[in-house]
Amino acid sequence: MEQKRSFIKDLLQSTETDRDVNAKGWVRTKRGNKQVAFVALNDGSTINNIQVVIDIANFDENLIKNITTGSSISVNGTLVKSMGTGQSVEIQAKEIELYGTADPEFYPLQKKGHTLEFLREIAHLRFRTNTFGAVFRIRHAMAFAIHKYFNDRNFYYLHTPIVTGSDAEGAGEMFRVSTLDFENPPKTDEGEINYSEDFFGKETNLTVSGQLEAELGATALSNVYTFGPTFRAENSNTPRHLAEFWMIEPEMAFYDIHDNMDLAEDMLKYLIKYALDNCMDDLKFLESRLIQEEKNKPQNEKSEMALIEKLEFVLKDDFARISYTEAVDILKNSKPAKKGKFQFPVNWGVDLQSEHERYLVEKHYKKPVMVTDYPKDIKAFYMKQNEDGKTVRALDVLFPGIGEIIGGSQREEVYDKLATRINEMGIPERDMWWYLETRKFGTVPHSGFGLGFERLILFVTGMSNIRDVIPFPRTPKNAEF
Ligand code: 4AD
Ligand code: MG
Repeated sequence: MEQKRSFIKDLLQSTETDRDVNAKGWVRTKRGNKQVAFVALNDGSTINNIQVVIDIANFDENLIKNITTGSSISVNGTLVKSMGTGQSVEIQAKEIELYGTADPEFYPLQKKGHTLEFLREIAHLRFRTNTFGAVFRIRHAMAFAIHKYFNDRNFYYLHTPIVTGSDAEGAGEMFRVSTLDFENPPKTDEGEINYSEDFFGKETNLTVSGQLEAELGATALSNVYTFGPTFRAENSNTPRHLAEFWMIEPEMAFYDIHDNMDLAEDMLKYLIKYALDNCMDDLKFLESRLIQEEKNKPQNEKSEMALIEKLEFVLKDDFARISYTEAVDILKNSKPAKKGKFQFPVNWGVDLQSEHERYLVEKHYKKPVMVTDYPKDIKAFYMKQNEDGKTVRALDVLFPGIGEIIGGSQREEVYDKLATRINEMGIPERDMWWYLETRKFGTVPHSGFGLGFERLILFVTGMSNIRDVIPFPRTPKNAEF
């Protein structure tokens, strides 16, 4: 009789033994002797493998030979209490079906560990390793927790467009979307490319942020959030930047900058707690992996806390809240500044670099830091202007090992101030008429922020390169898989 398939996660937790079960999955290892083989089987439902015990005399010799690391099988058998150590139950095999072999001569994943760099080159197979299984299960759990967090708090999930005609951040680092013929584009009388003949009748790009559209939603639905892919054509080859990344952007009517900070802190703590409550097996594996990795590092690069302790630590304390001006003072008076150890000098008016952010978080406060009220000249046009005429109500949340994890602000809700700023910054008003109208009709104070999803996953998993926390990384000169 066909046995219904069980997930290995459920079998391992089962106390109901001596019953027939079916498991399907990929072979991690096979060991044993002439009489009996022990197969460690994994189906991705958990980091843990189930042990399949095969009495070799009962099976075809060829079948057993073909059960090698990487092959895929279906096993019917009896779930029994395990005699060995390391697992509470195992499957005593009765029938085995081999779906696909994996020739040991060519299958690239062998029992010995592989470097993350090597695994990036075989990203189509890296899901089958313990590390990437753990990372992508946690990534899923975090996505689910984000929707749960907002759903439980009267936020609506708003789908903002992927193709846009506006440049939300004014950064100008966008991917063009066009169906025009590259070789022979239509030209205007002035000899310029005639975008009115393009698919949308105008220049369009992939979105860098859903914020502006989210603001339209918030000025009617009160609380909304977006959660989608965003695209930036910046040529930053760093362990923290992707050309395609996912961003969560809540936008709230009637929120000032303090409400915004409260939400950002509460949300981050909720997500980290969710991981601790729901992903412990995977976190423990990643923690042990990190401890192993750290053994080879010089003393001064070793981290002070293990992964789980670090996550718990963030939950314990309030985040520090300081202004940009205070941050600059702290940095100027810091040891590395005085010894000329910062690569980029700190002066009021310049943007904080990753080294400065990490000094504030890791050395000075030793906890996450929220920095507000940045100089208006280094921030986007939509941020609420302060009375001093020099700063805006911006918010950056800085995390240990990461630097900026969240960027946001209170928004300028006064029509004239916003229109003036748009003109000062040379943004064509005709592209922004719909955005400006929200300030003409029933304008309200409102705020929001953007959480970089992959930066959150970096923090929670303890991985150090952003290419290892997204299934298919897009970076300059790289879109293979
Ligand atoms: O600070 P950013 O550019 O802010 C915005 O896009 C606003 N529109 C958000 C808002 O207020 N609704 O980006 C927000 C976050 C950053 O803090 C960072 O975590 C992440 O997005 N991020 C990136 N992550 C990976 N690769 C990149 N190239 C990133 N650029 C930004
Ligand atoms: Mg930012």
